[in-house]
Amino acid sequence: MKKDAFKFFNSKYLVDGYTELYKKIRLDLRYPANVKRLEIFINLLKKHKPKKIIDAGCGAGMPLIEIKKRGFNVYGYDKAKNMVLEAQENLKKNRLPTNLVFYDDFEKPKKIKNNSVDCILGMGAFYYSKNFKKTIKNQTKKLKRNGRLIFSLRNKLFDVVTLNDYAERFLNEIYEIKKLKKNWKIKYKNLFNGFTKRKKIKLKNIDDKGVYSLFHNPLTITNELLDLGLKCEGFYFYHFHPLPPVFENFDQLYYRKISWKMENPSDWRGFLLASSFVVDCQKI
Ligand SMILES: C[S@@+](CC[C@H](N)C(=O)[O-])C[C@H]1O[C@@H](n2cnc3c(N)ncnc32)[C@H](O)[C@@H]1O
Repeated sequence: MKKDAFKFFNSKYLVDGYTELYKKIRLDLRYPANVKRLEIFINLLKKHKPKKIIDAGCGAGMPLIEIKKRGFNVYGYDKAKNMVLEAQENLKKNRLPTNLVFYDDFEKPKKIKNNSVDCILGMGAFYYSKNFKKTIKNQTKKLKRNGRLIFSLRNKLFDVVTLNDYAERFLNEIYEIKKLKKNWKIKYKNLFNGFTKRKKIKLKNIDDKGVYSLFHNPLTITNELLDLGLKCEGFYFYHFHPLPPVFENFDQLYYRKISWKMENPSDWRGFLLASSFVVDCQKI
């Protein structure tokens, strides 16, 4: 059984980490994927100029503070109590009112009225939902007509280019390997002999922490969202991988440098090489 994300994010280590993440771009310390994501969100806010904004799953509040400093009317909430406290501390440090951030659940928000918000942001948030469709429907209810839901997702297609167990799992599914005759199954499995086995490499990600989260396919998400009452108007890719992730083990700093140079939210290669993407949707 996988852990609920809000419980995972409630730990002191992650609460402190989410304040640090946005401070300075130091490729030797971490890959600044969240900084790139925030840049994409801010550019979309500048384009759409929404009046009232809610940041769902706001974490330690650093993105919210950046958005507020740019003059937007933004509030945020989180289900991890320690994240809410940290966000309030961060607001204080920035001389902003602490009541901009409160406790709520993005799967079923209770403190926000229906049809009351111009824009909802989900930065690294909604893919932790237990019931993704219900979450998006509940978020959409909070939006005014023509309001915007802008949120990031984990890219399922990125699996293919990892050339590791994720790729094998992905290809097994699309080739419908289970249905093949036995000797073909064996021949097919041999093709993966040179693929990286993730358990043998040092670097870990959120999937290795046993946290429940979902991946989405950028080729099918537009129709899925249309069924939920949202028109998807744009895709923006981030966290590019210039080579399969195993290369990051060989020389982490070099890998990060060439990844950072490659970041371009509109590059079509993002469909495969970026591990995450942002969707910009309008309520219909
Ligand atoms: C990856 S962090 C992102 C934090 C912040 N948006 C940022 O970009 O820095 C995900 C956040 O979602 C919160 N979260 C997870 N499930 C939630 C839920 N059901 N309702 C509200 N927040 C939730 C977690 O507690 C965590 O703070």
